[in-house]
Amino acid sequence: MADASPAHEVDSEFYQPASRFFPAHSRTALTYDDVTLATLYTEILPKESQIDTRLADGLHLNIPLVSADMDTVTEARMAIAMALNGGLGLIHYNMPEKEQLSEVSRVKNHVHGLIQDPIRVHPEQHIGDVLELIEKKRFSFSTFPVVDAVGTLLGLLPGHVVKPRYAHRKVSEALTPRAQVRTISERELGADPIARADRFFTENLGIHKLLVVDDQDRLKGLFTLSDIERITQETGAALKPARDSQFRLLCGAALSTIRRKDGSIDRDRVIGHVGALIDRGVDCVAVSTAHGHSRGVGEVVKLVRDAFAHLPIIAGNVTSAAGVEFLASNGANVIKVGQGPGSICTTRVVAGVGIPQLTALYVTSRAAAACGVTLLADGGITKSGDIVKALTLAQGVICGGMFAGCPEAPGQIVEINGKLYKQYRGMGSHAAMKAGSAARYGHSADSTRKAAAEGIEALKEVAASLDSVVGQLIGGIQSGMGYLGAANLASLRERARYIQVSPAGQKEAAPHDVIEVKTSSSTGDKA
Ligand code: XMP
Repeated sequence: MADASPAHEVDSEFYQPASRFFPAHSRTALTYDDVTLATLYTEILPKESQIDTRLADGLHLNIPLVSADMDTVTEARMAIAMALNGGLGLIHYNMPEKEQLSEVSRVKNHVHGLIQDPIRVHPEQHIGDVLELIEKKRFSFSTFPVVDAVGTLLGLLPGHVVKPRYAHRKVSEALTPRAQVRTISERELGADPIARADRFFTENLGIHKLLVVDDQDRLKGLFTLSDIERITQETGAALKPARDSQFRLLCGAALSTIRRKDGSIDRDRVIGHVGALIDRGVDCVAVSTAHGHSRGVGEVVKLVRDAFAHLPIIAGNVTSAAGVEFLASNGANVIKVGQGPGSICTTRVVAGVGIPQLTALYVTSRAAAACGVTLLADGGITKSGDIVKALTLAQGVICGGMFAGCPEAPGQIVEINGKLYKQYRGMGSHAAMKAGSAARYGHSADSTRKAAAEGIEALKEVAASLDSVVGQLIGGIQSGMGYLGAANLASLRERARYIQVSPAGQKEAAPHDVIEVKTSSSTGDKA
């Protein structure tokens, strides 16, 4: 279709495509605030713009946002919230490997209609034991099927009896007996189990749980009304959750360059852990380090690629075309770009190394296009406009600081002078390296005291829920796409026209010469 309003030659002289703009500025490294995007003729309303993105075969997101693999940003709760919003969470690796597997399982088992392996209790347990289990595993539910030693269904322990006042009572005394529990046989589920369960809940007023059993009456699964309702609502929702082919939420996990005492990569442990992550249903792994263009990272990426041909691998971080080529040639599908832009990063200060983000993205995007890999712009995002600019060169964006204040991020809320904060720390800070991330910065955990920290420990003001923050960011991205007449992210990359902004222009871009009475935050209102 011909453009209804062709480019004007004066515009073309000033507002240049990436291929002209960045080479013309090759002597200066630019970041988000140094540049602005020019508006273009549009027929697109912001709400109509499509923001789904394909990062790799088998890794398709409905929004181009990923939460950072940092120990104050992404554990299961954040990854669930990200995937429910259409994005992806990368579970960090500052925890024992077994724990990371459990975090992945928590995401993969969250609301996928039929819970195939429901948590079950036994008749001889006490209610107190069940309460302890809920507390320890941080379950958000309190109704449990009761089974015998071989898994035969004996009844259902209803949530309203799982109370401290009944702690000393046995499960066998408190359960709803088998005869009164509604079940369906596996064979009756048919080709569309969700539709079958939906019909059951409609026909059976007030029933909230439907248990699935086999021919020997052994427990095989559980449907809950709230899961089924959420799934059926999603079908009409604007932002659809990011799900795998089995309707489970997407989840990624960060992978460290695990080394032996002699410094060599511990190949067996790497392969063993990735295999276990895949068994839990992980959708991608992220080999996350500060310097991705390095032998160790290349070795780990190649090792994983050789062992798991179809697993999407994210790797980084790099800021050069050679770095992209290196990781792609070792088998990575998605490359993380960013060295030093993060809000808690001090790499550029400490090491004097790193490239401002927009220039890094342009340079790496040239190599990415040639190698057939995609890019994630990692770090330095402080407002939705930065994301729009990043998406003109990358297929997605990783955010740490933007999400660290949300209730879904790990960590306690602290009150200081009447204001509420959450901890947010760089993975290269002394505290985080001690907790496990030293390898990311090329140190061993026992040498971290002597190593120069490349990140700080900070606080973020408590933010609104992730839904609200993501909603604000998506609104901003779609606004940008509307201004550029971009119907989708490929079109945004093609249509973007850049011009450098002077310091006075930067000042002009923010509210000025007024007394602000209400902050219009680009990240959602504060809680
Ligand atoms: P934002 O700006 O979203 O950045 O808070 C998050 C990203 O920063 C990177 N990161 C670090 N970089 N020292 C660094 O130089 C650190 O201690 C550190 N910790 C995290 C990481 O890429 C993350 O996604």
